[in-house]
Amino acid sequence: MSLQIKELSRSYKMGELTVPALQEITISIEEGQFIAVLGPSGSGKTTFLNLIGAIDSPTEGTIQFHDLEVSSLSEKELTQYRRKNVGFIFQFYNLVGSLTAFENVELAAKLTNSSDEARKITKDLLEEVGLGDKFNKFPSQLSGGEQQRVAIARALAKKPKILLADEPTGNLDSEATGKILKLLKKINKDHNVTMILITHNVGISYLADKVIYLRDGKIFGTSAYDRAKEEEFWDTLTTAPAIEKI
Ligand SMILES: Nc1ncnc2c1ncn2[C@@H]1O[C@H](COP(=O)(O)OP(=O)(O)O)[C@@H](O)[C@H]1O
Ligand SMILES: [Mg+2]
Repeated sequence: MSLQIKELSRSYKMGELTVPALQEITISIEEGQFIAVLGPSGSGKTTFLNLIGAIDSPTEGTIQFHDLEVSSLSEKELTQYRRKNVGFIFQFYNLVGSLTAFENVELAAKLTNSSDEARKITKDLLEEVGLGDKFNKFPSQLSGGEQQRVAIARALAKKPKILLADEPTGNLDSEATGKILKLLKKINKDHNVTMILITHNVGISYLADKVIYLRDGKIFGTSAYDRAKEEEFWDTLTTAPAIEKI
């Protein structure tokens, strides 16, 4: 078991009010699994992802990553945990605008590797995501889909065990969405990385090994992979201009 999440809650204090963003989430995620977290806006998806990535801490409950109890780590250990294990992919890419595609990825690769190794890792990853001819382009010279590819390469640069993607295709058209999702699925298999992808698009969730449905900060169901549903999703993506949203 890669991640064991028990009774995980996160609430925010807003003056007198306490907003329960996430309530008593219990779920186990296996190594290499592709998990989709599906839910409407405000259901706690980002909160859930940020807790797993340890960029936020729970109000209650525990997250265990292999034999590491994430919720009891010191600040220094948390930085180590994030640096070693977690790669993030965001809806708006979050690339450094003043750096080229190569430099954006290299910056991340250098965190855990020597300069020579970092250059090699960067080159290999940019080629793997299909940007072998775009090393020296700045983010502003790339399409949305290309920028997200750079962000994916950057997330993989430290060879993370967990890849967290928060609405990674939320800003892309259906063609780029299809390409990015295919790439993420391939990476999940090829790198055996545990992937947790957040979406409010039911079709996208059908690509995953398992879907966790969130509503009002709680799990109200899970479902297993269904090949027919995935195929249906790919058909919708190529025939309909807009994807149906829940
Ligand atoms: N920093 C914060 N301060 C106060 N409330 C927050 C904060 N972050 C999230 N929330 C609240 O927690 C709930 C879940 O938010 P979020 O995890 O961002 O949902 P989602 O990603 O599914 O849209 C929402 O009601 C949101 O308003
Ligand atoms: Mg969100």
